[in-house]
Amino acid sequence: MTSRIAVQNYSGLCGAEVSGVDLAAASDSEFEQVLAAFRDHGVLFFRDQHLSPEQHIALAERFGPIDINRFFPADGQYPEIAEVKKDPGQTTNIGGGWHTDHSYDAVPAMGSILVARELPETGGDTLFASMYAAYEGLSPGLKRTLEGMRAVHSNHHVFGAAGVYKQEGDAGALFRNESLTSEATHPVVITHPLSGRKALYVNPGFTIRFEDWTPEESAALLTHLYRHATRPEYTCRFRWSEGAVAIWDNRCTWHYALNDYHGQRRLLHRITVAGCPLH
Ligand code: SIN
Repeated sequence: MTSRIAVQNYSGLCGAEVSGVDLAAASDSEFEQVLAAFRDHGVLFFRDQHLSPEQHIALAERFGPIDINRFFPADGQYPEIAEVKKDPGQTTNIGGGWHTDHSYDAVPAMGSILVARELPETGGDTLFASMYAAYEGLSPGLKRTLEGMRAVHSNHHVFGAAGVYKQEGDAGALFRNESLTSEATHPVVITHPLSGRKALYVNPGFTIRFEDWTPEESAALLTHLYRHATRPEYTCRFRWSEGAVAIWDNRCTWHYALNDYHGQRRLLHRITVAGCPLH
């Protein structure tokens, strides 16, 4: 049977929108095409999918084993599903800054699958940035400097008892296991395990310093890399709609949940898929 799948660039350098596939019923050959688009574009957007929680879990399992986030509130019925929720009375949201999921783990998560459940009337878009584009846009000299460097990633300052969620704003009560924080080191430039392309692998959410550098010494170069990586041409902005799904690769993208919908409720369901050590 001829496949109707179409993959269209979402912006010049970041992401693609995929149409003509029902993610809940994709054949093996259709899923192969989705995987190829995922490898090539880093983040994929799908409209009108309306996945049930069971279909969401089954889709994630086609990508790989599920990595249950130890900090996020789980959906009561399905421990595999993390709730990304902001209620009308809250002012802080989850993921409201540039980051990539689980970079603080020794074996960081491969990807995340986010499903729209309840959307504000306006606002609540998610921004993405391509770390392939960011790496490729660096000067040859800075690429050479970063090659071989490693960086320390931590979640103490985010999910720990003294971290931002517990200390600032009103999203802290949603998180659990504040004593299970950890650190890991990874190369600053990784060779992506699926595509073989190089990607910048530091992020403002969880990278705290370069290995063997102090935080103060690291700050200037990290700030430069972050400013560079968020150049508009490396990013895209996804406007959610009912039934929409975003699937991103944490090893070559960052994301940022916009917090511009105070007084309205937003609920998305996230499943994170396990990854492999990064080199
Ligand atoms: C996240 O950071 O995983 C959540 C993204 C979003 O809510 O748009």
